[in-house]
Amino acid sequence: MTARKLTFEIFRYNPEDPESKPHMQEFTLAEEPYMTLFRALNMIREEQDTGLQFDFSCRSAVCGSCGMMVNGRPTLACKTLTSDLADTVRLHPLPAFKLIGDLSVDTGTWFRAMAEQVGAWVHERAPFDPKAVEEPMDDELAAAIYESDRCIECGCCVASCGVANVRPGFVAPAGMNRIARFMMDPRDARSDTDWFDVVSNDDGVFGCIGLMACHDVCPKELPLLEVYAYLRRRALGTAFLKKA
Ligand code: FES
Repeated sequence: MTARKLTFEIFRYNPEDPESKPHMQEFTLAEEPYMTLFRALNMIREEQDTGLQFDFSCRSAVCGSCGMMVNGRPTLACKTLTSDLADTVRLHPLPAFKLIGDLSVDTGTWFRAMAEQVGAWVHERAPFDPKAVEEPMDDELAAAIYESDRCIECGCCVASCGVANVRPGFVAPAGMNRIARFMMDPRDARSDTDWFDVVSNDDGVFGCIGLMACHDVCPKELPLLEVYAYLRRRALGTAFLKKA
């Protein structure tokens, strides 16, 4: 059987080069069995244009580096088989992040700022005591925390979010997931009232306009709908307590 000929229309732009103008460039490639976009882009870079910029590290949907827009939908390129795509594939960088060049974006700066904004670390209730007996945790709760910790910070949910794309301070679904993770953790000293100030504003859960594309595109299938519902209920519960 003859291999399918794939056409890749790829966004090209180098913001560091004053001569560079954003444009689409076309490449063609013969499809191979079980070819991923990771493989296709590496072949294009090796054989047709060594200057093509894109990010990869683990090749197995773990590091979160290879998020990009594939035919208008944010997803991981290493997890995408070309056999699932039409003959022509359009690739753009993830929006909402600073463009480094072509398909490469700086997600690190965004995630660091978000982590600082929401305090994405365990705020200990007491100084660490190496002699203290380990505190047991309920299995169900440990599993729920682990579920949130599966986020690989690829940025696909942020790129899909209508609000994150227009308001830089919005902590976005990835931030909500981080908040929920530490809110659930009994080792964290922050009270519901402390969390209320982080979550219950336009940069938090009430800034979401409810499109929920994040839930549809998350490559790790995190239950982001449930995360938003959990945060809203906790925030509203605190608001009623504050009023009482
Ligand atoms: S290369 Fe690591 S997630 Fe795709």
